Amino acid sequence: MEHKSTGLKRIVLGITGGVAAYKAAELARLLVKRGLDVQVVMTQAASHFIGAATFQAITGHPVFADLWDERVDNGMAHIDLSRGADAILVAPASADFLAKLAQGRADDLLTTLCLARDCPLLAAPAMNRQMWESPATQRNLARLAEDEIAMLGPASGEQACGETGFGRMLEPEHLVDDLEAYFQPKRLKGVKVLMTAGPTYEAIDAVRGITNRSSGKMGYALARAALEAGAEVTLVTGPTGMATPEGAQVQHVVSAQQMLEAVEVRIGEADIFIAVAAVADYYVLNPSENKIKKDAHILTLELAPNPDILANVTAKAAPPFCVGFAAESENLEEYAELKRKRKHLPLIVANDVKEAIGSDSVQLILLDDAGRHVLEQADKRTQARRLIEHIARLYNARRP
Ligand code: CTP
Repeated sequence: MEHKSTGLKRIVLGITGGVAAYKAAELARLLVKRGLDVQVVMTQAASHFIGAATFQAITGHPVFADLWDERVDNGMAHIDLSRGADAILVAPASADFLAKLAQGRADDLLTTLCLARDCPLLAAPAMNRQMWESPATQRNLARLAEDEIAMLGPASGEQACGETGFGRMLEPEHLVDDLEAYFQPKRLKGVKVLMTAGPTYEAIDAVRGITNRSSGKMGYALARAALEAGAEVTLVTGPTGMATPEGAQVQHVVSAQQMLEAVEVRIGEADIFIAVAAVADYYVLNPSENKIKKDAHILTLELAPNPDILANVTAKAAPPFCVGFAAESENLEEYAELKRKRKHLPLIVANDVKEAIGSDSVQLILLDDAGRHVLEQADKRTQARRLIEHIARLYNARRP
């Protein structure tokens, strides 16, 4: 079996001594569920926190802890176990383990395996806040970064010792996400991507406005997928209430006019522009500064058209590679292709608005100069990765 989006097959999961070791069981289960062959290696200290039998049952493989394990024929457990591994993930990684790693020590099976590896090594630190903040740990982390050992987390929060702060191990789901992100192909390395996402909000008065049901999920997923592909991402977003993608430069805006201005300031630097935002087509002329009081009369709002941000960009003398979205409720492909022509886009992404709004699973149809490409129904994260792959292919083919 092979892991879907990364091509990873075999992973060594190292477990060191820390309370968070209990979460490693769930982590192992999630990794197996994603199609990975998981070989668990524990330290002596880890076995004080969780039993090997748990991991053996979850992964279907015996668990190793001893450098001199007699179950390994040639007595070379450190070579045998890391051979053929596509990655080593150590979670939880204790302060002591990181210190050993930073010094290149190899006095037990796990550290030996790490030193003798020829695959990427990722570690999820888990320790008390003060241990994390100590100059010694920070010095070790700086050295590990130089050695290109990737740190996943830690998170901030409540700790087993009763304190609150940095040092908590990331939750298993989060670790699996980060592992997947790390191994995405870097198809857009160093490419500058500017994106719009979410709805816009056009004020009627101090408390009311015109907006739409765009959740921002697709735009945010796309920003994440672009980051995973190695791009430098700037996200201009309308109000969504969603957590901003880690690593992106984010500019929050409210109205279409503000979104246009934010895009105009940044467009000169962009290699790729992706317009995912559901921009309100109209804004209210003369919105009231105060809350409008109701009376018995009919209330008339005067609306004026908003600028078309995407069309503004494609009309430039040397526009970046532009991608538009077309959310339609009927004649999906016909309307989308008309928009693509009208806005001079090399690529437009069509989706059925009735299906897409607020949902986590969508089908996307990509229309470009070569024709139509269907991205079969999948969650937005998967679709975002597929879409970035397509965009990268078109963009890279145009590069000199
Ligand atoms: N777009 C934009 N600025 C606007 C309106 C749309 O940048 N003022 C972008 C959207 O982000 C999306 C694409 O243009 O990429 C959508 O095209 P558009 O024709 O404006 O879509 P709708 O507003 O849905 O058009 P219609 O109401 O005609 O279906």
